[in-house]
Amino acid sequence: MNLKSDFCLKPFNTFGIEVLARQCAQITDCNDLTELYKKGSFKQDFLVIGEASNILFLSRFDGLAIMPLIRGKEIVEETDHQVVLKIQSGEYWSSLVDYAVDNNWWGIENLSMIPGKAGAAPIQNIGAYGAELKDVFVSLEAFDTKTGEFKNFNKNDCKFGYRDSVFKSSYKSRFIVCSITIKLSKIAKPNLSYRALSEFFAGTDKSTIRLKMIRDAVNQIRSSKLPDPQIIKNGGSFFKNPIVKTSMAENLKKKYPEMPLYKIDQKKSKIAAGWLIEQCGWKGKRIGDAAVHEKQALVLVNLGKAKGSDILHLSEKIAESVFKTFNIKLEKEIQLV
Ligand code: EPU
Repeated sequence: MNLKSDFCLKPFNTFGIEVLARQCAQITDCNDLTELYKKGSFKQDFLVIGEASNILFLSRFDGLAIMPLIRGKEIVEETDHQVVLKIQSGEYWSSLVDYAVDNNWWGIENLSMIPGKAGAAPIQNIGAYGAELKDVFVSLEAFDTKTGEFKNFNKNDCKFGYRDSVFKSSYKSRFIVCSITIKLSKIAKPNLSYRALSEFFAGTDKSTIRLKMIRDAVNQIRSSKLPDPQIIKNGGSFFKNPIVKTSMAENLKKKYPEMPLYKIDQKKSKIAAGWLIEQCGWKGKRIGDAAVHEKQALVLVNLGKAKGSDILHLSEKIAESVFKTFNIKLEKEIQLV
């Protein structure tokens, strides 16, 4: 384990915000966590940083930043139909997707190119293009910073929801994920339910669609809308897509027939936050170095030297105008630290 003081987090958050952490522990083995526990390190604030692709730093982090660098993936079970994989938390999610696609294992191809590491995936139940981690999730092993013990969580224990899990509510800031276990299929299971994907393959004979083609299509669609954090600093979607009463959504739809709307059930519907923000005129706008991405209004970007507070200020202005125009409160998807 590598323990450092006053550690600069700028290269380790995709918003590229310049902040220091009082301490940083780079973990290469889960037993390092036991060592930290014995030293009393978890009595202070701590924060797990994979790629920090979903965190906006507002000021110096006066606690312990933990960076899991534990690598490795192993097949724990295999049949003719499926494979169960255990993945250590420090593996990059996007390389895991490529590894699965190269082996012709189905289930996570729609989640291609999502930044972050495998250990972060269950925290907010990552999702994209009609798929979510929960669809393939089996279990995870995590370290309990309260008791110093390791604990297994199955799918039910995790209480997955839309960008949500038990690790964002009752177990917030308590557990550190060491590994995740997922189940992938050897039998073709194309999921083209998401509109952008079905449009991409419109006119293509379904029987000719291969796993790699879907992963490549997702990469193409993502890259056409979402900025690459290596080039333009950003944290992906800043807000969640709001879930409102279906009656309210239907009234809005009468007024704005082109509004993208996803019915969840009789009572609830999801509205595209990016569309709401664009309607309020924010797409491509900037305040200093904090800006709204010109191709996807749900994504806020740091064009250079923006501080966390500059991005937050912009987000508050956006939320205010969406509320004024549509009477809808936007909830942040990004974690503020
Ligand atoms: N839209 C606009 N204007 C915009 C942005 C979007 O009109 O500026 C419209 C689009 O035309 C489309 C609809 O809104 O009809 C949805 O847009 P998109 O397909 O780009 O997806 P999203 O709902 O904005 C969600 C996830 C993304 C994920 C995509 C694809 C959330 C908060 N975001 O975005 O996840 O990649 O779907 O599945 O659910 C992330 O979590 O960081 C993230 C990028």
